[in-house]
Amino acid sequence: MASANALAHPNIAFVKYWGNRDNELRLPSNGSISMNLDGLYTRTIVSFQPSLPYDELIVNGHEIAGKNLDRVSQVLELVRRMAGSKMHAEVMSENNFPTGAGIASSAAAFAALALAATRATGLELSESELSRLARRGSGSAARSIPGGFVEWQMGTAEKDCFAFSIAPPDHWDMVDCIALVNPEHKKTGSSEGHAIAGTSPLQGARVADAPRRLAICREAILKKDFEAFARIIEHDSDMMHAVMMTSTPPLMYWQAITVEIFHAVRTWRAAGLAAAYTVDAGPNVHVVCERASAGEVERRLRELPGVGDVLSAGTGGPAQIV
Ligand code: PMV
Repeated sequence: MASANALAHPNIAFVKYWGNRDNELRLPSNGSISMNLDGLYTRTIVSFQPSLPYDELIVNGHEIAGKNLDRVSQVLELVRRMAGSKMHAEVMSENNFPTGAGIASSAAAFAALALAATRATGLELSESELSRLARRGSGSAARSIPGGFVEWQMGTAEKDCFAFSIAPPDHWDMVDCIALVNPEHKKTGSSEGHAIAGTSPLQGARVADAPRRLAICREAILKKDFEAFARIIEHDSDMMHAVMMTSTPPLMYWQAITVEIFHAVRTWRAAGLAAAYTVDAGPNVHVVCERASAGEVERRLRELPGVGDVLSAGTGGPAQIV
């Protein structure tokens, strides 16, 4: 039996990935930028066993079958091919945060899986190779392999489509205060969403404009210019949701409280509390701020009627073997 145990953080995208130019290989339509979330993690143990007739997946103590197991098996199959092995694996995974609520649980899950599965077979992949492998399970997982502030370049082909750090975790002490408004499992997963992104007449414009947004966001992070950072991440999130809302069928992830939080955050910022919002494929709002403002942002979010809990996470490191 060969096994390995790995840990990876979810990430929050500041310039979002939405839509693929190749769904099978998960080659994105545009590049993206994110930050890993410290304190939140998926821990995964992969053990390859000669006696197993098929792959097994256990998440938070529950055995999983169907589509989610198939997705994990696809990544394990790539690892088996690389290692020249035919052994099936038992995958045991635990999250310390709610899954399927727009907190990119799949990003942490597939990053931890890619690292644990390759190490269990004795393979030592480079960071970019691991990022490419994680990408095959879930696009955003490519960004949970490197640490800190991360850019996923769209590349020209499969080989150069991977993520890398643009700044280490301690470069800018940022906190993501996640206002949980509805922790229920979302109705439309991101894989289905990516597949219909191109049906929105706005997607072409969003993709064409992505290099501009990436340049502004990258520079704002490198210069620690919060005002520029706030404007671009809100703009980018709104653009992605405009595409979602205008695709066929339409995807509306926002609830009334989601929009109320947008207004509150902009009012706070205008009055001097530096915070900015961004939303993934769910109704929860990520309110990002510098560490010094995090206590106040959290307190104000909790006061809003309709906000359940608030999870706070600083800037996280890379996926690692534990
Ligand atoms: O990796 P996926 O297929 O779960 O897609 C993630 C999509 C968003 O979270 C909405 C945006 C992003 O860049 O993380």
